Amino acid sequence: MAGIRRSGIIDLRSDTVTLPTEEMLEAIRGAELGDDVYGEDPTVNRLEEMAAKKMGKEAALLVPSGTMANLVSLISNTKKGDCVILEAESHIYWYEVGGISAIAGLIPWPIRGHMGALDPKDVEAAIKPRDIHFPETMLVCIEDTHNRAGGTVITPQQIEALSKITREYGLRLYMDGARIFNAAVALKIDVRELARHVDNLMFSLSKGLCCPVGSVIVGDSDFIERARKIRKMLGGGMRKAGVIAAPGIIALEKMIDRLEEDHENARLLANGLADIEGLYVDLRRVQTNIVLVDISGLGANSDMFIAKLRERGLLASNHSKTIVRMVTHYGIKREHIEKALTIIEEATRELRSKK
Ligand SMILES: Cc1ncc(COP(=O)(O)O)c(C=O)c1O
Repeated sequence: MAGIRRSGIIDLRSDTVTLPTEEMLEAIRGAELGDDVYGEDPTVNRLEEMAAKKMGKEAALLVPSGTMANLVSLISNTKKGDCVILEAESHIYWYEVGGISAIAGLIPWPIRGHMGALDPKDVEAAIKPRDIHFPETMLVCIEDTHNRAGGTVITPQQIEALSKITREYGLRLYMDGARIFNAAVALKIDVRELARHVDNLMFSLSKGLCCPVGSVIVGDSDFIERARKIRKMLGGGMRKAGVIAAPGIIALEKMIDRLEEDHENARLLANGLADIEGLYVDLRRVQTNIVLVDISGLGANSDMFIAKLRERGLLASNHSKTIVRMVTHYGIKREHIEKALTIIEEATRELRSKK
């Protein structure tokens, strides 16, 4: 069956391991195609129109990955040498190979947030005064949900408060919304509420929404026109990209509401983990599909713990030396969580006995 791995392994490393549904595979086969660099792929055009409408913005652009979406957006929002304020644990800062500096030529200005959210006062204090010595601060980036904070949700109120500052100082506000639909589902609000106060944003198709490839950038028409050119410059002009867009359309139509199931499974997992001796979970952070578990009470490090789980057919990922990340997704059902908890219980018992 599509969407579920056949091997029997329970893979909680990330929601990027999701597989496309049967319906997506059929849609790929039947997609009407054309050369998208000429703007002639009807399936891509349809996805981009749908995405813009869904976010309440003027236009959208399909790109191959979340990393490219962020890079294209950074470049399209700034000029070389500008300063970009972003959260210190953000994906752009941690996991995008320094493209913000190496390719975009920008100066990242990291600020530590609270559960992933930037404090407007800290942002205001970090904006460079106009002075011959300083680079110009041009952009503030937020991340919703915030991956390294544990899938925490940034609310429309928090975004609006930041947008007041960015508007006052003539800056732009950009959202890495790779998992924005998880945030909208968790808050039970229309995703437009989250998109409203940012100038532009991106979201991923290839994570919880199960598409094989793709992210979408959304914003006003001028910005998207610039982004289209930058995408081409970076080699992201994809010819018959309707094969990517076709499952994206299914994702937007059918895969959003079910994210609630992933959130329920994450809560089930988190509560189970919190009951296991030697493990600690900050349950306040378990707001969507990500669970961070602190294993320092076992006297082991994350790599040792992950190896013990792997031996038993459970995959998790390393967040830090003593924190392990587990992510729920379409390929994970309630029974997988129950089995995962049994495996974790056994592994922790073994590690505790060696302490
Ligand atoms: C918050 C966030 N932004 C961006 C990305 C990058 O997406 P991609 O893996 O498609 O490049 C990820 C990937 O996990 C992510 O979690």
